[in-house]
Amino acid sequence: MESYNNTFGSERNSSESFSHLVELASSQLVVLHSQKPSNGDLYLLHIRNFATVKALALTILLILICKIIFSQLSWKNETKALEKRYGCKEPSHLKTHWFFGIDKPLQVLAAGKEGRVLHYFRSLVAEAGNTFEWTVLGSRVWGTQDPENIKAVLSTREKYFSHEVRREVLCTLIGDSIFTQDGASWRHSRALLKPSFFQKHCTNSTLFEEHVDNLIARIRCDSTVDLQPFFFSLTLDVTSAFIFGKSVYSLTPSQTEEEAEFSRAFQYAQVYLSKRYQLGRLCWLLNGKEFRESCKTVHTYVDQIVDNAMQEKARIALDPDCIQASKQNLLGELVFDVSDPIQARAHLMHLLLAGRDTTAGLLSWTMRLLSRYQGVQSRVRDEIEATFESDPIDVNKTKDMPYLTCVLKEVLRLYPSVPVNSRTAAEDVVLPVGGGEDGKSPVLVRKGEDVAVCVYSLHRRTDLYGSDADAFRPERWENGALDHVEKSYGYLPFHGGRRVCPGRQFALAEASYTIVRLLTAFPKLNVPAGTTFPEVGMEKQILGLTLSSADGCVVEMSR
Ligand code: HEM
Repeated sequence: MESYNNTFGSERNSSESFSHLVELASSQLVVLHSQKPSNGDLYLLHIRNFATVKALALTILLILICKIIFSQLSWKNETKALEKRYGCKEPSHLKTHWFFGIDKPLQVLAAGKEGRVLHYFRSLVAEAGNTFEWTVLGSRVWGTQDPENIKAVLSTREKYFSHEVRREVLCTLIGDSIFTQDGASWRHSRALLKPSFFQKHCTNSTLFEEHVDNLIARIRCDSTVDLQPFFFSLTLDVTSAFIFGKSVYSLTPSQTEEEAEFSRAFQYAQVYLSKRYQLGRLCWLLNGKEFRESCKTVHTYVDQIVDNAMQEKARIALDPDCIQASKQNLLGELVFDVSDPIQARAHLMHLLLAGRDTTAGLLSWTMRLLSRYQGVQSRVRDEIEATFESDPIDVNKTKDMPYLTCVLKEVLRLYPSVPVNSRTAAEDVVLPVGGGEDGKSPVLVRKGEDVAVCVYSLHRRTDLYGSDADAFRPERWENGALDHVEKSYGYLPFHGGRRVCPGRQFALAEASYTIVRLLTAFPKLNVPAGTTFPEVGMEKQILGLTLSSADGCVVEMSR
């Protein structure tokens, strides 16, 4: 240690000691010569004997390989001992064929390019069973579409799992709040962003009305239109109005430059985040200039809104009537509980991210399917007529439309907005099934391993939904026929357990209201003439942070 410190001390001594240290470290294999450069800042190491360096490199490589083999062996022994202690059996193993199992990630990439990544995941499940593991680059990863295991991950053993990877991927844009937190900090955020608040607001038609009016005004009658980008704008406008108390009005020409800049930057950063997600723990490799600038634009815009709300809170502090009025949006309520503006921004950003693309996806898939399945569309139209007659459309009444509810349930079954989700084991943890020949014994997930919960393939299991599980048939939900599946973790568009989506009712209210308004404004909705509609599940899909259609939602709308 002393000689190392001396390296930065006197010129002659340090040079000698450094060489001595290197010699020792390399077991006297090489002699390295160091000398002080002319500028006096750095020591340049001159390598005299190339062959000896090669020998050193080989020795290091050999040591590394031995270390890896040794740690793999002791990991295997430890795993076997723990499996024995907890009565676990070996899980089904997904076979990989290339070095370090890289054939599978390459196949995922190829399937992603073709818009068929979820289709590919289903083929893995078909090959390896309902719960399986595979090893990629030396790390074990799990996949499950087993309701019992999913229940354990999301509910009964939820505390043994963390959102580590998600935090690393998302925090640059959205900060740390409900979506990325675990333990006490998550409990705190969840208590602040109360589900009751979402429920209170989703009964208010005025929150949706103005923005759906703007949407309808943008659709030219008797035309072929791609509704998907409009739905992304609609849900951005509604969610921003709901959380900021001020919409960004992306559907109107009157949008200010600042609002337009925010919308653009948020859109860019969100798409970028989904690319970071694909890299998982290596997400730090993607941190481009435009992404960083977009994050900055988004933060500046939201910080201004937070700042205004905090000033407003200080101004009305003593007036109970004003306080009540200011609590009409989420931020107005939040500033009474959160004094740190950066934390307030994080809470808002999490809601914006969680509430926007998910609902836009639901709307897109629904309108696509309604244009294709005319029988379903006409039943929804009949229900609209029976429910509203000539009354104005009220969001509260859409809850009393059982057939529309079944349609939305069926869309979310086939196209869950969050089709695959993953958690990281924070401890060694036992999952109830998936081990042994029959897959009925418990399995052991080791600390640090990721478990992918495959909701997409779960929702298409024929043993849960019948032989026509791949078909779009809303009637399957009628009269509570699938209540037992819902109750037993077989249907999870909003997930379950303590972290179940708090925006569920808000999203369903927004989607129902928008669909009813669109079908009322445009009595004809069709697949454009000459277009072939692919089989359900065979369409091109984009798996970003949420699931969307790669071909958009192109429909023909007329009065
Ligand atoms: C169709 C629309 C929606 C779907 C399918 C959906 C689905 C989900 C799912 C699956 C999760 C769990 C994610 C996980 O634990 O990894 C979740 C969480 C969450 N969702 Fe939604 N969501 C929707 C709309 C919304 C809306 C409109 C909001 C709010 C405005 C919202 C707010 C949240 C929040 C805050 C969480 C995090 C909950 C927690 O971790 O405690 N969601 N959502």
